[in-house]
Amino acid sequence: MSRFWSEAARQLTPYVPGEQPKIAGLVKLNTNENPYGPSPQALAAMQATVNDDLRLYPDPASDALRDVIAAAHGVERDNVFVGNGSDEVLAHAFHALLKHALPVLFPDVTYSFYPVYCQLYGIAYCQVALRTDFSLDVDDYTQPNGGIVFPNPNAPTGCALPLAKVERLLQRNPDSVVLVDEAYVDFGAESAVSLIRRYPQLLVVRTLSKSHGLAGLRVGYAVGDVELIAGLHRVKDSFNSYPLGRIAQAGARAAIEDHAWFEATRQRIIASRVRLVADLLRMGFEVLPSEANFVFARHPAYTGAQLAALLRDCNILVRHFARPAHIADFLRITIGTDVQCQVLLDALLHMGVSTDQSVISV
Ligand SMILES: Cc1ncc(COP(=O)(O)O)c(C=O)c1O
Repeated sequence: MSRFWSEAARQLTPYVPGEQPKIAGLVKLNTNENPYGPSPQALAAMQATVNDDLRLYPDPASDALRDVIAAAHGVERDNVFVGNGSDEVLAHAFHALLKHALPVLFPDVTYSFYPVYCQLYGIAYCQVALRTDFSLDVDDYTQPNGGIVFPNPNAPTGCALPLAKVERLLQRNPDSVVLVDEAYVDFGAESAVSLIRRYPQLLVVRTLSKSHGLAGLRVGYAVGDVELIAGLHRVKDSFNSYPLGRIAQAGARAAIEDHAWFEATRQRIIASRVRLVADLLRMGFEVLPSEANFVFARHPAYTGAQLAALLRDCNILVRHFARPAHIADFLRITIGTDVQCQVLLDALLHMGVSTDQSVISV
């Protein structure tokens, strides 16, 4: 605490991202990165952008990128907003669209950045308990509210909400912005983008960090009614006119246009998830149904903290959340390559978590 900090800075409890240690040979399954990386076409496009033009500011509105995103989703450029990672898009959405007299609603087990944005912008919020099976029931979101936010699939559970339920939530909340954070949607859930024409209060937020393997580039976007998007631009242009540099705009465009790479890598991750879930179940884990590039699992014989520490000793990083208490025994495990998944299973076997030899690599 420094005497130079403002009162606002003193009051903050910042979000703590998953560790990014610089340890060689680490199997990093803690931050839901994509093990296959970005499209080679995206890499080439970015390399081609490293030239003398970098002395010039980028297009502040990222029009060419917004056109590519709009075409991918069958909407218009004015339905699209882009930002420096979906974290920045979310921050602007909280500021521009969710700060009202009534509290914002979000699940009690969800992306832990949401309460941080509320604190940053002075937004009242109310956390709605998930059901005991960790599912989100839209019938629990009936109280008067200043907006509703949830990831689909949810994080860190991985559980998805069917599109019909998202629509029911929208029908019941015609006067609130409903923000669906689709960071992980490409790994098996149904996107709500198709609903934006019928529901002017719907904002869908997406990222290139996960299914496009570009966490290091920092590109996220929102799709919604033109009025919502205009509100986001007002906040963005009062904060940073140039959130995406020339390299990011070019790389994101090429990544979205390389549909073959996107499709092949996402299918590999889905297939690895199916295999990993089956193996973890055989080892006695309880695994929540996941439509994401991670699984949320616990073992009856260990606490989450114990297992995370034991795996760390084997150079395997997974994510453990000590709070809220009812998820403290779970681990969130990112789906890596099949080799990484096997390293994890072998380590669990050697630790004595299971005696089921059938999970050993063949
Ligand atoms: C649910 C959810 N939303 C948004 C983000 C932010 O992603 P990014 O800022 O990399 O686009 C994450 C990152 O892990 C996430 O889990």
